[in-house]
Amino acid sequence: MENYRRIMANNREWVKKIVESDPGYFDKLSKGQQPTFLFIGCSDSRAPAEVITGTEPGEMFVHRNIANQVQPADLNVLSVLQYGVEVLDIKHVIVCGHYGCGGVRAAMAEPFHGLVDYWIGGIRNIIRLNRHALEGMGGDEERFKRIVELNVLEQVYNLSQTPVVQQAWDKGPRPLLHGVVYDLHSGLLQELVVGLDSNKKAQEFFTPQLRMSLHGA
Ligand code: CO
Repeated sequence: MENYRRIMANNREWVKKIVESDPGYFDKLSKGQQPTFLFIGCSDSRAPAEVITGTEPGEMFVHRNIANQVQPADLNVLSVLQYGVEVLDIKHVIVCGHYGCGGVRAAMAEPFHGLVDYWIGGIRNIIRLNRHALEGMGGDEERFKRIVELNVLEQVYNLSQTPVVQQAWDKGPRPLLHGVVYDLHSGLLQELVVGLDSNKKAQEFFTPQLRMSLHGA
């Protein structure tokens, strides 16, 4: 209970500090949201969207799940995406993976983790499709990092193929899709793909060879 009490006390302290410096802060925020970013990240407690990007309440619409997946039939992420793009008019959609991801590590091991094995099946496919390239790499850590990166790319590709993004791109260059990786050791974000805002750009980036290595087609 002590831990729980601590976060309740933190909340009151936070409110007090904000109201002292800006008495109208919560009034303003309660009128509505117009976030610029949709962040799709991992549930990992060490990669909190707003903290690592220095964004304030109201700036970032957030969806997190194990291993930052954008699965084409996941109603949860698709609903967030649709609401974000069509209603909130989000400008940037960012898929953020992270090195040391437990979901990716689980996909590299034998499938004995229970329900989560279904969730990370796509990452197992990425590993299978890249077996030769991965086996040729220096060590486990390097392989692990590469799979984290390929997983982010796969999710950005999946995003680009959703009806929501396709319909938005039919109308104009918005939203912009980005793929980044957070490094737990340095705290830095590394950019893997930046500013996809059309099918043309998506096709240029996701070459047939890259697509083959992500999902085999
Ligand atoms: Co993770």
